Amino acid sequence: MNSAQYQTPIADRLRTSAQSDNVPFHTPGHHKGQGIDPELKIWWGEAIFQADLPELPELDNLFAPNGVIAEAETLAAEAWGSDRTFFLTNGSTAGVIVSILAVCNPGDSVLVPRNVHRSVISGLILSGANPVFMMPQYDERLGIAHGVAVDTIATHLASDPKIKAVLIVNPTYYGVCSDVVTIANLSHQYDLPLIVDEAHGAHFQFHPALPIAALSAGADIVIQSTHKTLSALTQASMLHMKGDRVSVDRLAKSLQLVQSTSPSYLLLASLDMARMQMATQGELLLGEAIDRVQRIRSEINKIANITTLEFTHRPGFHELDPLRITVLISGIDGFTADQILHEELGITCELPGLQSLTFIVTHGTTDSDCDRLLTGLKQLSDRINDMILESDPNSFNYELFTEIPTIVLSPRDAFFATSKLVTVSEAIGLISADLICPYPPGIPIVMPGEQITENAIAYLQQIVAAGGVLTGCADSDLQIMGVVDN
Ligand SMILES: Cc1ncc(COP(=O)(O)O)c(C=O)c1O
Repeated sequence: MNSAQYQTPIADRLRTSAQSDNVPFHTPGHHKGQGIDPELKIWWGEAIFQADLPELPELDNLFAPNGVIAEAETLAAEAWGSDRTFFLTNGSTAGVIVSILAVCNPGDSVLVPRNVHRSVISGLILSGANPVFMMPQYDERLGIAHGVAVDTIATHLASDPKIKAVLIVNPTYYGVCSDVVTIANLSHQYDLPLIVDEAHGAHFQFHPALPIAALSAGADIVIQSTHKTLSALTQASMLHMKGDRVSVDRLAKSLQLVQSTSPSYLLLASLDMARMQMATQGELLLGEAIDRVQRIRSEINKIANITTLEFTHRPGFHELDPLRITVLISGIDGFTADQILHEELGITCELPGLQSLTFIVTHGTTDSDCDRLLTGLKQLSDRINDMILESDPNSFNYELFTEIPTIVLSPRDAFFATSKLVTVSEAIGLISADLICPYPPGIPIVMPGEQITENAIAYLQQIVAAGGVLTGCADSDLQIMGVVDN
């Protein structure tokens, strides 16, 4: 490791500026905390407001970095092995949108799995590109989608010359990884860039027991939510680029379309510190976290009604992040299990599913957190044994989500079309104006421009009935929907 990785240029300069006694006649209006309500200042402390500074001359400029931001991005590029790294203060959401704007012109096609995050659809609407959806491998036992099979990608690429880029989600929310090396080689055989939404995999680079990082696997653009699995503040993310299939200029210009011109230095400094922490101690910290999970994983599997998702080699399931624990719950649905854990047992998971719960373990997870999880799951299991089953999870029909609906209009045309509200039963067969997805994990079931199928409605109704949350629809009970008025 290069000893320069101990440096934190943004954080250091920010601390100096925060502590200087320059009189602040600039944004933000709280003027180093002087205008903040005293109650908030007592709660959050003074330092955070003093460091909440704008792009002062000594703090560089995110859109044209040549000072401390440039230095910090170069250190991050070295740590993650990219040719160029961009810091993002608008989340991976911005990074995913930008990656599509950078490689697609209006009318181009992008090959994407159906279980993309909604930011991909935003990127398609803004760029005017069209999706070519491929079905990811489906785990019927858990009712969740995994990665994409190499054969599925190969078939699409061989038959559709309009495809201009390949975008995959790797890892999935559940930590499941596709065979990214083969997918990168395949994409490059057609001279297409591979974009990897690695929102949940920023840590992969820093421990050999973790799945291969997408950049090392050959991806051209990789987007990571540094805030999801590492220690950056919420929304702080990075976009890494490698090779010359993508224009750096076009990417930088696209960033200016979607990012704020007032980037938060709290976020930027947290990216700088998170990089330093991982580059200098990542292997140690992540190794300890992996050991912690291994200790409880086998214990969890001894609990009645609960089993963990384990690695089984099959298409679309090439590797599994050991730091992601997904448990399959029998006897009650995942949303009820989540409610019991969160409200009664003091354990909050990342993601409840119809029949599963997903827990994120990071270098910030302690031994005592792991013990509480184990105890909580045992108590949950006892509760399940005592409960009169009000909902039978086996009555869910996962098959409803295995067919890709017909695309009638591009996401962009549907977004800009005149729309109207109709009841869900009237909506069947019409073209959706909405992007409706259960959140989390943000996997769209109905997309703008797609014909609304009976199955899609039935699937969403199952989620509502089970206590899940839908976003993007006119009402959360799914009584009415937005359709294109033609
Ligand atoms: C797979 C995936 N991609 C992208 C995003 C967007 O990331 P961010 O929250 O950093 O904007 C998420 C967020 O949940 C995600 O799960």
